[in-house]
Amino acid sequence: MGNEWKLINESANYLHPFLPEPPMVGIVTGSGLGGLAKLLDDPVRIPFSVIPHFAPLTTEGHSGTLIWGHLKGKPVLLMQGRYHYYEGFSLSQVVFPIRVMKQLGIKGLILTNACGAIRETFSPGDLMVITDHLNLVGTDPLIGENIPECGPRFPDAGSIYPEALRKVAFSAAEQLGISLRQGIFAWWSGPSYETPAEIRMLRTLGADAVGMSTVPEALAASHMGLPVLAIACLTNMATGIRSQKLTHEEVLRIAAEAEKTYLRLIPEIVSKVLFGKETE
Ligand code: HPA
Repeated sequence: MGNEWKLINESANYLHPFLPEPPMVGIVTGSGLGGLAKLLDDPVRIPFSVIPHFAPLTTEGHSGTLIWGHLKGKPVLLMQGRYHYYEGFSLSQVVFPIRVMKQLGIKGLILTNACGAIRETFSPGDLMVITDHLNLVGTDPLIGENIPECGPRFPDAGSIYPEALRKVAFSAAEQLGISLRQGIFAWWSGPSYETPAEIRMLRTLGADAVGMSTVPEALAASHMGLPVLAIACLTNMATGIRSQKLTHEEVLRIAAEAEKTYLRLIPEIVSKVLFGKETE
């Protein structure tokens, strides 16, 4: 047994007794979007800091808590906070909790994030369903010894964000009168925001939005055969599109406003989603 697989299992074995029921869905909430945790019934909260082999959090205090609970009657595991590559974590540390959640039983993963809009018809505050991604960071969470128990050495990346799941998101949104965008998400390592020239490059390459998370988790999930639904919050127009200076405070302010929409949308999606059975 490889060492990483052993660590994943030690972590899962530690968490297992805390969970009244195996979780069906994993959810990762991005910057300023952690309020979903308040909607969970029967919550069991486990700080990242006590979970074996979860990386120690940085002082910037993205609060890290794993919360088991019922959302619309379905058992979910919610990560309030995540590990970012720009904080100095290795990509295997970034994706470790996703692998543990799979080991605990999740059948699919919902990712949220805050990101910048590149497509000029998009506006701050819009939510965008990610249809596909561009990984321009030059690394991949699967680099290194493969974990065969997780998935193959060379995983297919043709449908990381399955259309059937995206359709569930659009039908939930329609039902709630929420308008959703869709597009290609480019992963940028950060922590520097992009330059205007980099945004022009990303647009030329086909990106509609850019952000500093999500792609590593999606790649690791897809490696394990988990379908991923990723909904990005466009908190700002990307650098150079408008003259306004880009700050983290502004990103958090818009994310907090958009959170109200997520709090309506995600439960409705969870209530509808069957994971894997959509295409049957
Ligand atoms: N670029 C990269 N990451 C981001 C942005 C952005 O404009 N906004 C929020 N996260």
